[in-house]
Amino acid sequence: MSTHSEIKRVTTHTLQWMKNRNEKISMLTAYDFSMARIFDDAGIDVILVGDSASNVMAGHETTLPITLDQMIYHAQSVIRACQRCLVIVDLPFGSYQGNSKEALNSAIRIMKEAGAHGIKLEGGEEVCDSIKRITGAGVPVMGHLGLTPQSIYKFGTYAVRAKEEEEAETLLRNAQLLQDAGCFSLVLEKIPASLGGRVASLLNIPVIGIGAGNQVDGQVLVMHDMLGITKNFSPRFLRRYMNLYEDMKDATKKYITDVKSKDFPNEQEQY
Ligand code: KIV
Repeated sequence: MSTHSEIKRVTTHTLQWMKNRNEKISMLTAYDFSMARIFDDAGIDVILVGDSASNVMAGHETTLPITLDQMIYHAQSVIRACQRCLVIVDLPFGSYQGNSKEALNSAIRIMKEAGAHGIKLEGGEEVCDSIKRITGAGVPVMGHLGLTPQSIYKFGTYAVRAKEEEEAETLLRNAQLLQDAGCFSLVLEKIPASLGGRVASLLNIPVIGIGAGNQVDGQVLVMHDMLGITKNFSPRFLRRYMNLYEDMKDATKKYITDVKSKDFPNEQEQY
């Protein structure tokens, strides 16, 4: 296989190849056509249509309310924009926890109706039967351990997970189980960097971190955080590449001023 910029279409095999040759994997969330087109054009390796859409697109406090139909709508828009990157879609809360048949049906809807390239779901041992069933039907599955936002009411806080050795051992065991069940990749959220490194060296599959340090095989951020659109959210792991909230607010203020002052539209801006 060739270099990063020469890759025509990123697949799950490309991610494995990247891990094997120690090339880091770049992943961002996106939920709509326009943003996905920019990320794909920029050369992002993976777009995750995350259930964080529930927070950043719909304004809910948690990821729990978003529905499968709503995830499919977001995924369809993203898929239409992407020519190169791999597009993975979150199974939302309530669409897979019941049993493995429910999980398979939800995964199939996402693949069929959105044209996604794979799905992601949260959890360890308890979701392994579902992972086996979904991958058995030919659908690539990405796991998610550490801070799993769909279980926020069980954990009670968004604090760093697995700081104690006992929880770290459980996470390591679950990571191995997810790989054995057939996951092609794993997201680790908000855990100590050293544990991220331990998981990445334990597993053969690519491990992508968000707040899991730099010893993992790739990084993911929520696009609204990375672009500085979210306000009052500054976890230590977040690097902001823009301050779009303020920039867009300033642009909006200028537009309002121009309309009110009758400066817009001018002679050249009308027919
Ligand atoms: O929904 C999401 O955005 C995610 C990322 C935080 C990995 O699951």
